[in-house]
Order: sequence, then C-alpha cells, then structure tokens
Amino acid sequence: MTVVRVALCFLMIQSIFKDITVKTETMDVCASCHKNATCNDKTDGSGGKVCNCMYGFVGNGRTYCQDKDECQLGKICGDHTKCHNTYGSYYCTCLAGYSPSNHMNTFIPNDGTYCHDIDECGVQGVCGEGGLCHNTEGDFTCSCQTGYTVQDGSEPFNPNWDAAYCKVIDCGSPPSVLHAEQLSPTITHYNSELQYGCREGFQWKRGQNSSVCGLDGKWHGPSLVCEEIQCGSPPVLPHSVLFWNGVSKIGSVALYGCDVGYRSLVTGNVSVCESDGQWSNPDYSCEAHCGPAPEVPHAEVAWDNSTAVIHRCVKGHYRHTGSDISICDITGKWQIASLHCKELKLTVNNLVVINERCLRWNAENEGYREKYTVTFVGLRDFEQLFSDRRKKIFSSSALWPVLCLNLLPATNYTITITTESTRATSTVTANTSIPVPPTPEIKYSEVEASSLTLKLRRSTNTLDSICMYQVFVIPVEGVMLFDCSSSVSPRFLAQQRCDRGYVTAQIQLSGLAAEINFTVGDQQLYGDFFNAHLENGRDYYIILRTVCQWGKSRTQSCVIWAKARGTSYIMKISALVTVGSIGAVGSVIVMGYWYSWYCKKSSPRFISAAI
Ligand SMILES: *[C@@H]1O[C@H](CO)[C@@H](O)[C@H](O)[C@H]1NC(C)=O
Ligand SMILES: *[C@@H]1O[C@H](CO)[C@@H](O)[C@H](O)[C@H]1NC(C)=O
Ligand SMILES: *[C@@H]1O[C@H](CO)[C@@H](O)[C@H](O)[C@H]1NC(C)=O
Ligand SMILES: *[C@@H]1O[C@H](CO)[C@@H](O)[C@H](O)[C@H]1NC(C)=O
Ligand SMILES: *[C@@H]1O[C@H](CO)[C@@H](O)[C@H](O)[C@H]1NC(C)=O
Ligand SMILES: *[C@@H]1O[C@H](CO)[C@@H](O)[C@H](O)[C@H]1NC(C)=O
Ligand SMILES: *[C@@H]1O[C@H](CO)[C@@H](O)[C@H](O)[C@H]1NC(C)=O
Repeated sequence: MTVVRVALCFLMIQSIFKDITVKTETMDVCASCHKNATCNDKTDGSGGKVCNCMYGFVGNGRTYCQDKDECQLGKICGDHTKCHNTYGSYYCTCLAGYSPSNHMNTFIPNDGTYCHDIDECGVQGVCGEGGLCHNTEGDFTCSCQTGYTVQDGSEPFNPNWDAAYCKVIDCGSPPSVLHAEQLSPTITHYNSELQYGCREGFQWKRGQNSSVCGLDGKWHGPSLVCEEIQCGSPPVLPHSVLFWNGVSKIGSVALYGCDVGYRSLVTGNVSVCESDGQWSNPDYSCEAHCGPAPEVPHAEVAWDNSTAVIHRCVKGHYRHTGSDISICDITGKWQIASLHCKELKLTVNNLVVINERCLRWNAENEGYREKYTVTFVGLRDFEQLFSDRRKKIFSSSALWPVLCLNLLPATNYTITITTESTRATSTVTANTSIPVPPTPEIKYSEVEASSLTLKLRRSTNTLDSICMYQVFVIPVEGVMLFDCSSSVSPRFLAQQRCDRGYVTAQIQLSGLAAEINFTVGDQQLYGDFFNAHLENGRDYYIILRTVCQWGKSRTQSCVIWAKARGTSYIMKISALVTVGSIGAVGSVIVMGYWYSWYCKKSSPRFISAAI
C-alpha cells in the first residue's frame, strides 16, 4: 500500500515537473533527472532545482538511480525473518518454522507483526510411524519410540531433509527348540514374550521356557532343554511272564501272561508307559488255578469262587468231622476239605432205661446234633385212673445220649424216641420200682401181754393199693435176728416145735383210715392170718412190717411196735434195738442171739446191710 501510495505521489510529482519543464525550458535541470528520480526545489533557497532519486533508490538523481537494498540495513524485519528487497522497496517474511503474527504472507517492519515459532509437533505424524517429535525454536527433530529403530540415518533426524525414519522392531520368526513347541501365539514385535513347552513324550529338563523380543530385534531365549520321557522297566507281577520289547518310551506297551498253573480272572494284561513317565498299573494278578472243585465223598459243592470251595454233605449224610472248606493254595493245588460226611442212620439203637430215671441209647449219628422227640406214657395196672403222659424235645450230638426223666414209681412206662432227621423211632418199656414204703407213725411201748392194743398213724400213699401191713409176733428167745426183707410170712401153728415168730395179721392199706387201733391176740382172721392169743408168761416183740408188691417187685420196711411183757427176761441189747426200731425202716432188725440149734441148722449171723 505504502509502495502504491509512494508511486501515486511520484506520478503526481512527475506531472507537476512536466508542466514546470514546459514553462521553464531554459532550466532543463529537471529534464535531466533520472527516470527514477524526482526534481525538487533546492533546499538552499536559490530557487534551483535538484534531482533526487526517488524513495528506495540511491544515486545522483541524473545519471543513475539504483535500487537501494534496504535488507542490507540490518535486521529491519525482526527476529526469525527474511528481508526481501524489491525494486525500490522491500518486504518481510517469516523464516521457515516461524509464523507471522498477522497471518499474512508478508509484512513490513514496524507494523507490529513478528514471527513466532511454529509447533510442528502439533501436527500428528510429522515424525512418521513410531516417531517421537521434539519441537525446537523454528524447527523440530524426530526420534524413535521404544519398539522402533531409526532406519537410513540416525537420531535425531528431521524428516523434511533427512531420509531417516522409524521402523518397528520385529524379531522375525520365533526360534525353534528341539523337542519343544511354542505355546503362545506368534507376536514378533519388541518385548513380545513367547512361551515354549516340551512336546509330548518329552519333559522339561532345564532352562527358560520363554523367549523375549529384544531391542536389538533379536529373540532372547528360550533356553529350555527337553529330554525324552522314559518309563524304565515295566513292573514285575508275581507268577507272571512279561512280554516286552525293551522300549520304555511313552506309549510303549508291555504284555503279561500267567505262569503255568496260574491264571488271571481279570483281563487287563497290558501296561503302558504313560506321559508321566510311569508304567500304568496292569490290572492283572495271576492266581493259582486249581481247576474244578475237588470231590469230597458224600458231599456236594455249596459255594465256589474258584479259589475257595465250601462243601456240604449230601442229603442223608451229615457233617461228622472236619472242615468243609477247600482252598486253592499258591502252588495251584487244592487243599481239600477234611470234611467227613457220615450217613444218617435210621435207628435209635440199644435204648435202655438206666436207674429207672434216665434213658440212654446209641445215636449212631455221632457228632450230628440230632433233635429227638421223647414221648412217654406211664400206666399202672393197679390204678386204672392213673396215667402219666408227657413229651420232651431233646437235642444231642453225643454218641450215647442220656436223657433223664422224672419217672413216677411203680409205673409201667412205654417210652418212644423219634429222631427228627430220619423219623426213626425206638420204643422201650420200663417198670419203675416201688420205693421202700414209709413206716407208719407208731409209739413204741412195753405193755402187758393181756392188754395189747397198739396204735399207728399213717399217711396215705398213691401206692396204697399194692401195700399191706403185716404184724409179726416174735417170741423173745435168746438173741434173735429178724430179716425184714424175707418174703416168708409164717403162719401161726398151734403145734410149733420151737419158738418161731409168725404173722398174726395182714391188712391191706387201701381203704384204711389214717389211725388204726390193733389188738394183738384177738383171735380174729386178718387177711387169712389168725391173730392168736399170746402165750402167758412169755415175752414177745410185736413188729409191724409194711410190704408193697407189684408183680415180682416187692419192698418193705419194718418197725418194732411194742414189747409184750410176760417174763422178767430183758434183753441186754434191747436199748439198741429200741433205738434202732424207732427210726429204722431197714429190712434187718437184730434183737439178740437166736438159738436155733434145733429149729434151723444155721449159725448165728449178723446182717447189717439194708436194701
Ligand atoms: C526506473 O524505475 C522503474 C521501476 O520503478 C524501472 O522499471 C525503470 O527501468 C527505471 N528507469 C531507468 C532508466 O533506470
Ligand atoms: C518350564 O516349564 C516346566 C514344565 O512346564 C516347569 O517344570 C519348569 O519349572 C519351567 N521352568 C522355568 C524356568 O520356568
Ligand atoms: C492279553 O489279554 C487279551 C485280551 O484278554 C488276550 O487276547 C491276550 O491273549 C492276552 N495276552 C497274553 C500275553 O496273555
Ligand atoms: C474266594 O473266597 C475266599 C474266601 O472268602 C477269598 O479269600 C478269596 O479272595 C475269593 N477269591 C476270589 C477270586 O474271589
Ligand atoms: C406194661 O408194659 C408192657 C410192655 O409194653 C405191656 O405188655 C404190659 O401190658 C404193660 N402192663 C401194664 C399193666 O400196663
Ligand atoms: C382207738 O382207741 C382210742 C382209745 O384208746 C379211741 O379213742 C379211738 O377212737 C380208737 N380209734 C379207732 C379208729 O377205733
Ligand atoms: C411190668 O409190670 C407189669 C405188672 O407186673 C407186667 O405185666 C409187665 O410185664 C412188666 N413189664 C416189664 C417190661 O417188666
């Protein structure tokens, strides 16, 4: 603008000078002015003219007016500027890297415009991929980010005039390791870490498992060393043969078979070298093979698992002795059961009644616990209403079982034994004996023969119907012996030649009252016996004998009832007799010496035993 204004001014001045030239032809000063000069009034007041080079020109104003290079005048544009000289003028621009504050391309000094630094880093990507921009006064430099390296130059660089650029670090294809494989995805730039592991069949021995891409663009690591997995020798199993090719790599197989005489009940005969370096456990254990179950006489197999057999006796037999188990031993042989089966016999042999109380028989089935049913029926022919019927269950394994029963006396028993297993029966009959009858309650007395009424008190007994009382009259003569058990019942005979005792009365017990008065010598018949008068002047013993009799069996008890006094002779040992008589129920009563020198040719004797 200023330039334009200067130019206009100049033109006006020029036209003025033309007019002047025309008017004052004689003074041709102005005409001689250089085209690029102006004609001016002299300043000295002389009224002369002078040629002055126009603004921006220097010279003499006539012959030459050269362009003046204002830019030579020092920093007229300011900092970070470039001065541009023009013909007759000049202008300013900012240096590269700077920007004018008037936002125009050019400026002239002193119009307030200045050049300030441009932040080139504000623009993205000035340094290129991976470049780091560093702003400087009027400029910038580039370096490379971590993970990038400078290429075709060095750092720092300026992409505007340097060929250098940043290039991403790439370590390239990952390294490979013997017997190992890469586990992580392939990323090859700086600081990438790759994991490695040993391949199947191999195991880590030592070293680093990872590889890292370094700044130098190279992989560092891995250093791992993988070694092949070996299982060693397969396990040894008892009683078996091993089939193996000697290779103990993973997947190697060993086969097993059983020794002769052995077999396996399971089928897993293979062991495999596993990835953990161990042989798999073969599910195989050879056991002795004994073959089919052994035979045991009269026995059958109750249970069998091929190494143990339980036998049991066949029907009709029973286990007598021994073990019932056969075991297959480790040598493959049966240890045969010692079981002894005995035939169950059908009979109960030799059944007897012992001591009138107990049964005994031969069981035959020795060792076999038999269950017996014992039924017994007791009848008495002398007592129609009587009946003892009972039943007993009895178990015994004895060869000679004994069963004691509470049998009642004087009874005809029929006893039957039945075995439960074979239903065999055996019957025995037994007559129980008659117990010695109790003596009645009497009171021993010594009385006059003339008034001989004696008393007794008795207790009734179930055997009364086969029992009776016998009243003996025994003349006292020397020392006598009365045999209570004697079956002789002598009758009174008027012409008795010697002084013998006799039965003076026989009375059946059944129907008798509990208390009886009996008078000796009342001349009556008692049970066909004559109750004769006692002889005057003689001494007698009155003996009461209780007799029970059933069939051939007979028992008795005796007691001295009284002494009938007729003489003064008293036996020395009467006290003994008396004592004995009161409680005695024995069969023999000793009363003194009995002189039998003409009655019976027998020597004096003592019998002390009782039945
Ligand atoms: C006078 O100056 C102008 C530019 O302003 C230039 O073009 C011209 O050549 C100059 N004349 C002479 C005779 O030097
Ligand atoms: C490498 O890996 C193996 C198996 O995965 C492991 O046992 C071992 O300790 C690792 N070694 C290192 C140095 O990390
Ligand atoms: C292993 O078992 C298989 C299947 O049971 C059988 O066929 C093979 O004969 C057995 N091998 C040996 C060596 O016993
Ligand atoms: C057979 O049974 C016996 C006794 O119970 C036992 O010890 C054995 O292990 C069994 N054998 C088999 C093969 O089951
Ligand atoms: C006693 O038993 C036998 C044998 O069984 C029998 O013959 C007899 O008739 C029985 N006698 C009485 C009285 O029951
Ligand atoms: C036995 O004789 C006594 C007198 O001495 C008498 O009282 C009693 O009634 C008699 N008994 C019988 C059963 O006759
Ligand atoms: C038992 O006694 C009765 C009666 O006396 C007799 O008939 C029977 O034969 C006797 N039986 C035996 C087995 O002795």
